[in-house]
Amino acid sequence: MRKACFYVFLFLGPLQELSDLFERYANGMACAQRIFLMLDTRPEVRDADEPTRLGHVRGEVSFNDVVFAYSTRSTTPVYRPSRPHNSGRRGIAIVGPTGHGKSTLVQLLTRFYDVTGGSVTLDGHDVRQLAQDSLRRHVGVVLQDNVLFSGNILDNLRLAAPKPRTST
Ligand SMILES: Nc1ncnc2c1ncn2[C@@H]1O[C@H](COP(=O)(O)OP(=O)(O)OP(=O)(O)O)[C@@H](O)[C@H]1O
Ligand SMILES: [Mg+2]
Repeated sequence: MRKACFYVFLFLGPLQELSDLFERYANGMACAQRIFLMLDTRPEVRDADEPTRLGHVRGEVSFNDVVFAYSTRSTTPVYRPSRPHNSGRRGIAIVGPTGHGKSTLVQLLTRFYDVTGGSVTLDGHDVRQLAQDSLRRHVGVVLQDNVLFSGNILDNLRLAAPKPRTST
């Protein structure tokens, strides 16, 4: 009897492994589908026909009468026209209660979204006229929800450009 049990377990073990393998394969396929869907999606924010590339950047940021809503159907925009805000050379602190649009301002500056009205400028250039790679090369963002990859902090900061740049 014991011997029979032993053989049954011997037989069931590989079957269990096979079923685990199929589960991992199905998970992998679902993830791959999502990745390819994302890669095939045409971004809404695109470069202008002849975008400007930034040279030396002073870092003056202005928000001019910015109007923005995440959805065109939204009846409550995140921003309505207000007086212009300029960081000047000394910088600007944006403070406000949760959900009032602080992170959204950063997303507009880096062009993850485009303003619906008004403009955001960097050193006087409307960010919509700037080449996205040039703009993002000059704007560093530390978001509140961070994902850290293995390695040290410097490795994480240099993820997209592991070698230090020598020019702009
Ligand atoms: N991707 C999105 N799609 C739709 N609505 C969004 C999206 N991201 C933010 N919102 C909405 O826009 C508004 C502003 O959000 P935002 O994240 O900019 O606020 P916040 O000031 O940074 O808040 P917190 O202090 O919590 O970080 C909120 O009402 C939020 O629900
Ligand atoms: Mg935020």
